[in-house]
Amino acid sequence: MIDMHCHILPGIDDGAQTVEDSLALLRAEKEQEIKKIVFTPHFNPERQDMDMFLEAREKSWEALRQADGFSDIGIDTKLGCEVFFTMRLIEMDISKLAFENTRYILIEFPTINRPYGITRTMQNILGRGYTPILAHVERYEYFTDDPVKLYDLVSLGCIAQVNAAAVVNTSHMRGVNAMQYINWELAHIISSDAHSVDRRPPNTKAAYRLVEKKLGSQYKDWLIKNTRDIFNNRYFDDPIIQKPKKLLGRWR
Ligand SMILES: [Fe+2]
Repeated sequence: MIDMHCHILPGIDDGAQTVEDSLALLRAEKEQEIKKIVFTPHFNPERQDMDMFLEAREKSWEALRQADGFSDIGIDTKLGCEVFFTMRLIEMDISKLAFENTRYILIEFPTINRPYGITRTMQNILGRGYTPILAHVERYEYFTDDPVKLYDLVSLGCIAQVNAAAVVNTSHMRGVNAMQYINWELAHIISSDAHSVDRRPPNTKAAYRLVEKKLGSQYKDWLIKNTRDIFNNRYFDDPIIQKPKKLLGRWR
């Protein structure tokens, strides 16, 4: 299994602060049967210079891969990042922000207010041959209030990711949303978004188990296959997405 959204690189964002934190997270990932990881530290183009960010990421990665015990963990890794949405992405060279040796790029959005220009920016990125992966889509109120907005982006060719912690939190609206999006095939991958072993640990195993129980093993297998296709930069099959419809006041 593959985790494609996590904050494991040391000292670069609000995730692991030290190499020891990173190693603890990697061991926790292994317990989740994760064999491959894309490291995705936060990058905000409005606040950070891209070259400085890439340099900091390289240094952080260097510190981790030279740490005692890293190679014993035996997890295959790629560098990536979680880019905060801005329309400036249209003018930026995004090749270095995509997951290493792939055409996939992870993008997050503000939680409450829908920013201007999402569709135009996503069309531009897709037009340059990159596939945006929309991070933790269960979080955004402007999608949960109107999932057709998410449907429209997926119809363009975007891929959507949900957090494992949300999937398993069935008593919270985010958990309900995450499962519903998977059911509609409007969410295509589950990842941990792990930040630390205490507060936000990796927990993809429980999420896959719950998907299997609620939606069936074909959904679980499909989610896992999607992560493999992305990691290996394979062409992503168009999902058979369902357009959400509002019936008796509920999205179905
Ligand atoms: Fe994240």
